[in-house]
Amino acid sequence: MTTTTLNNDLQKPQPRFDDLRGILHYVPQFRQKVFVIAFDGALMTQPGFASILQDVAVLQSLNIEVVLVFGARAQVRALAAKRGITLYNDDGMGRTDAAGIEIATDAIMRQCSELVADLTALEMPVAVSNALAVHPAGVIDGVDLEFTGRIERVDEESLRALLKADIIPILPPLGYDGKGATLRLNSDAVAVEVAIELQAAKVIFVSESGLNDPDGQRLAQISVAEAKEMYKKKDPKHDVSMLSKLRYAALACQEGVPRVHIVDGTLDEALLAELFSNEGVGTMIHADDYQQIRKARASDVPELLSMMQQSVDDAALVPRSRDSIQSKIKDFFVLELDGHPIGSVAVHSYEEEGQKVAELACLFVKRSHKNKSHGRKLVAFAEETAKQRGCEIIVALSTQAFRFFEEKMGYTVTTPDSLPTSRREKYDKSGRNSKVLVKALK
Ligand SMILES: CC(C)(COP(=O)(O)OP(=O)(O)OC[C@H]1O[C@@H](n2cnc3c(N)ncnc32)[C@H](O)[C@@H]1OP(=O)(O)O)[C@@H](O)C(=O)NCCC(=O)NCCS
Repeated sequence: MTTTTLNNDLQKPQPRFDDLRGILHYVPQFRQKVFVIAFDGALMTQPGFASILQDVAVLQSLNIEVVLVFGARAQVRALAAKRGITLYNDDGMGRTDAAGIEIATDAIMRQCSELVADLTALEMPVAVSNALAVHPAGVIDGVDLEFTGRIERVDEESLRALLKADIIPILPPLGYDGKGATLRLNSDAVAVEVAIELQAAKVIFVSESGLNDPDGQRLAQISVAEAKEMYKKKDPKHDVSMLSKLRYAALACQEGVPRVHIVDGTLDEALLAELFSNEGVGTMIHADDYQQIRKARASDVPELLSMMQQSVDDAALVPRSRDSIQSKIKDFFVLELDGHPIGSVAVHSYEEEGQKVAELACLFVKRSHKNKSHGRKLVAFAEETAKQRGCEIIVALSTQAFRFFEEKMGYTVTTPDSLPTSRREKYDKSGRNSKVLVKALK
């Protein structure tokens, strides 16, 4: 009889060594960097919230300087309903009247106290900060927003002093105007203003849901321009909370925060998975070149050889020596994700009877990054490079990926006679009997 019961360890995918290397690659990169983590209030009432806080503790243990911000929409709404009060606004962006600020203050202070209690239980030193100098937002579009505030300044010095002492600053979505008034703030605005002032490396919005495309597929990365466009379009699929995140994410990137992440906080381990895997599990809004194909350098050769080894073992790629790559290094390109090589392609050129022919070679994508269109991008890049070199056709030899070339990239299988003579000789000698694929470059 077979048993279908597996123990917990077996059910969880085990990290492989190259995954682990990928994770460790980020650790020194993140050290002493400021991460502003802002979570939606609704998550704080869910059972999974305890593990989000444990993830925060992991980040702090890696010497990342964490600042915490939280939203309060769900709590403010719930308290207003309980007291039978109708709110003008619950997200800190519209009008907050006297009754609204009373509800918001009560709800937020309670949340704050619970958060401090939870973090204290995890032995994390925290301090609730009043580092925001706030003024009333004033009259906007003819509406007096009354007790809604606008952030005027962030007291960098006081926040730095806390971070230096390994104390996590907590910034609630409330501000004080210096004249004794309490004002309601939008938590996304708080997170971004603080991140800009502290020159944070990241803002991470831990949200009630993730950001998807119209087909419901996760958007892994979007540019600042795309985030702005999505905010402008105000697609009803994105609720007011997501639109606010898109707006403030774009602002953060424009003002020098290199990366903003939106992660679905209802997913297990979403925070760590987003930060420590190249592909992430949420959406990254980036100001710089997160993904790029660049020319290979001599210093890439050991990493290229090690990455290719699996495909060589599977006989999908021809074994190459360090010297053979080194001597043709100008033909090699590396696909980098977040400064970390995950794939490669080479473009060799031949000239015969006045016709220039390119060969696409050494195409591979690391196993942990397959099926994310990186292969297609590398082939398209190789074709573009070949065109720029004046080649009219491109050939590729493959034993196992010929269907990929045919079905995904429009190549056709041809005979080895189509190869340039010098390449044909090598082909015959290799005895690999690879399929020869060809495509005309227009
Ligand atoms: C071939 C390779 C580069 C594809 O990389 P990738 O990043 O996974 O490719 P993409 O994400 O762009 O495309 C994935 C699609 O191609 C298909 N595909 C990938 N490898 C395939 C193969 N060997 N045969 C047929 N289809 C394949 C996938 O099923 C997927 O199809 P779908 O979009 O319909 O789901 C990668 O699998 C690899 O490194 N293979 C080993 C090395 C090799 O064979 N190189 C070619 C010799 S030059």
